[in-house]
Amino acid sequence: MTVLAIETSCDETAVAVLRGDGSRRELLASEVASQVAAHEQYGGIVPEIASRNHLIHAPRLVDRAIKGAKIGLSEVDAFAATSGPGLASSLMIGASIAKGLAVGLVKRYLAINHLEGHLLSPFFGRNHESEIRQNVSLIVSGGHTMLILVRGLANYQLVGRTVDDAAGEAFDKVAKMLGLSYPGGPEIEKHARAGDPRRFDFPRSMLDSENFSFSGLKTAVRYLLPKIAVILSEVEQSRGITETTVRRSLSIPLRFTSVGAQNDLCASFQQAVIDVLVTKTIAAALKYHFDLVTMSGGVSCNHELRRQMREACTRKGIEFKSAEPWLCTDNAAMIAFAALLRLHAGFESQVTEEIDPNLALL
Ligand code: KG4
Ligand code: ZN
Repeated sequence: MTVLAIETSCDETAVAVLRGDGSRRELLASEVASQVAAHEQYGGIVPEIASRNHLIHAPRLVDRAIKGAKIGLSEVDAFAATSGPGLASSLMIGASIAKGLAVGLVKRYLAINHLEGHLLSPFFGRNHESEIRQNVSLIVSGGHTMLILVRGLANYQLVGRTVDDAAGEAFDKVAKMLGLSYPGGPEIEKHARAGDPRRFDFPRSMLDSENFSFSGLKTAVRYLLPKIAVILSEVEQSRGITETTVRRSLSIPLRFTSVGAQNDLCASFQQAVIDVLVTKTIAAALKYHFDLVTMSGGVSCNHELRRQMREACTRKGIEFKSAEPWLCTDNAAMIAFAALLRLHAGFESQVTEEIDPNLALL
């Protein structure tokens, strides 16, 4: 069975072609067109720019993926698209193209939940292709922070979720405060590498709950900032007194008391997020007696988070599996993988199925 999947839930346009039977899978093509440059100057995603770019990129990527897979469009058995959660105007583009192809070529259509794509991604990779096993899954992305008990495909139970900001959102917002570029996660990670994670004492919120909260942490950074950095006045700026290490086009002109202060702030912030994610994930695995922890989503690219989560799992005798780095941020391979598993399990969607910006996983 061959699946072509389209992912356009946010600001990445992606298309993948995956072939497989029940146990073996072969990724024939995976294309991603990033829009980071188009949104960077605004410090976040602008929905209309995102959907206009999807409209430009998606047809080209479908073409490239089909050529790369060395198959004809008619050889695709099912067309899949992310149907939510995400930006309505972005979701619409991918879903409409997939539905159009399914109707035109008289093939099956599958609407896939973006979060299920992330959730299953630790089980898919170029090097390991294992069966879905019972696991505690931590999804940490720009829009979501969730702990889920996975008992099998489509058998999910929510343990906890963020009550305010998602972990990735906190990285992005703090980065913006520091005048770093978007997306903020990789930038903060880069600065954190040279910093001292014990320098600033940030809050670890709601440690006794199964839910998460990151807005207090963000506020703590905001309160600390004036103590270790000054916003340069126009006069100072016009005199050319700028801090080159933190200056970017349209960013806040900040001068830290030292470059070390900025690195220490990034390291301390990152460690506060990691402590919360690791503590709650391990607590859930122990409480529900699960011997496998998986982690996915953009924030799970973070090397320090991966290292500390693996170490914490090992200490408790729990196996740990994270999505391969290329599968952590948004891509269509994970959507194709979820679609293929669902097809084999007998699921199918109607082309009348609508996109849903708030689509729930469970
Ligand atoms: O999964 P994803 O590509 O999109 C969503 O579905 O939200 O996640 C994007 C998020 C952004 O907030 C980005 O800052 C964060 O993942 N991110 C990271 C890292 N790489 C990406 N956060 C921390 N450390 C990283 N290395
Ligand atoms: Zn995502």
